[in-house]
Amino acid sequence: MTIQIINGPNLNLLGVREPDVYGCTSFDDFLPRLRACFPDVQIDYFQSNIEGELINKLQAVGFQCDGIVLNAAAYTHTSIALADCIRAISAPVVEVHISNVHQREAFRHQSMIAAACRGVICGFGLDSYRLAIESFKR
Ligand code: DQA
Repeated sequence: MTIQIINGPNLNLLGVREPDVYGCTSFDDFLPRLRACFPDVQIDYFQSNIEGELINKLQAVGFQCDGIVLNAAAYTHTSIALADCIRAISAPVVEVHISNVHQREAFRHQSMIAAACRGVICGFGLDSYRLAIESFKR
């Protein structure tokens, strides 16, 4: 099984960025731990701050991998282009968020991409990613 994780803007700053909201762990530190939870799954990782690069990556992997874990970060709340892309590809996409966006500002309560995704997991910290991969395994 091959799972692609795609992280959007500012998630390269995990561990440094607003640690009270997103925690103190960088994604580079977290990824080996996540991979250790799923020794039989190939977990590929991509991050970009650029909307078009996220779309290019979704298109590039979206007809061959078994599932995509997407944290589109702020583009979640704005990007019709990402929603269209998720609908265009064949791989199922699970939307994840580290924070519980529904406990935060009203503009974070709306997701442009949720309806195009298989499901949404939010609010479990970095464990949201593990739960998303778990959902694909089942
Ligand atoms: C986020 C939540 C978004 O609202 C925010 O813009 C992010 C991170 C999360 O993982 O909690 O950058 O997607």
